[in-house]
Amino acid sequence: MPTLNFAEISIEQGMAMADGLMEADKYELAAKVLRALLPSAPAAMKNRIRVRLGLASVRNNRSPMTRGALKLLERGVLDVFVGEGLATWSKTMPFYDDERFIALADSHAHLLPLPNWHWNLQTVLWAVRQVRDLDGDFMELGVFKGHTTLFCSEYIGFADWPKRWFLYDTFDGIPDDQIDPNFKSTNQVYKGTFSFEEVRDRFAHIPNITVIKGRVPEVLAETCPEKICFIHMDLNNAAAEIHALDALYDKLVPGGIIVFDDYGWTVSRAQFDAENAWFAKRGLQILPLPTGQGLFIKR
Ligand SMILES: C[S@@+](CC[C@H](N)C(=O)[O-])C[C@H]1O[C@@H](n2cnc3c(N)ncnc32)[C@H](O)[C@@H]1O
Repeated sequence: MPTLNFAEISIEQGMAMADGLMEADKYELAAKVLRALLPSAPAAMKNRIRVRLGLASVRNNRSPMTRGALKLLERGVLDVFVGEGLATWSKTMPFYDDERFIALADSHAHLLPLPNWHWNLQTVLWAVRQVRDLDGDFMELGVFKGHTTLFCSEYIGFADWPKRWFLYDTFDGIPDDQIDPNFKSTNQVYKGTFSFEEVRDRFAHIPNITVIKGRVPEVLAETCPEKICFIHMDLNNAAAEIHALDALYDKLVPGGIIVFDDYGWTVSRAQFDAENAWFAKRGLQILPLPTGQGLFIKR
């Protein structure tokens, strides 16, 4: 087999090669090519390589469309970012200036079936840093394989914070009686594809994080912090999230933050409507973000 010397190809040629490999369904090889290009790429090209590397790291049935959107936008504008359900251009991408952010997002990307989750991770990371000095503990409702909390807790060095982070999941997907319209097929992603033991072991190096198996809201009656300063709400169903709000809102300290993960996705419209109604009754509002997340800060 002939060997390829990367010194002989330009960065543009290398990126075209990686695009071709993804089109041919050779994602791992495309990622290898992109990783080899990164160190010698000029600063202006690095982000173009990084966004491709993110697309090469996670394959799903929308990957061809996402790659197509990237190429189309790059024909006309600069600083293009394309991820799952979100494209930005001509915008500063703060996370690409942060080597630790990039390295951690890259190393955990395989834990989520959605590519280039950087804008979403950035929201959650902002929130957890924002509440650092408040009273109370952290919660994540809906953990899946642990992607978001692992990223944030490693980034901030949560093991050294004088707080606890409680992570809840059925570890068996959305309970049948809680499934919203549109979510029957999506639930297959969570059925038998991950386990409590796997996730518990993934967090074993962070002693102040506790992984709890159980159904929300019932499990909250068994294990729940007295005071809460942060909730990542990601249960993909309206019934459980509304019950969780009923159970937890009074424990949320002033300044405490809730990040709703699914809130603005059109497939999650039932959550959007139910949560807006819940807050409207109290004269409050969730801020919709273009990532699909909803942001709430308690007064
Ligand atoms: C979108 S995933 C969570 C993704 C995770 N937050 C992350 O960032 O990687 C939704 C999770 O909610 C869990 N879930 C859904 N309904 C639940 C309930 N009533 N109680 C506990 N877990 C539930 C599912 O098992 C699934 O793992």
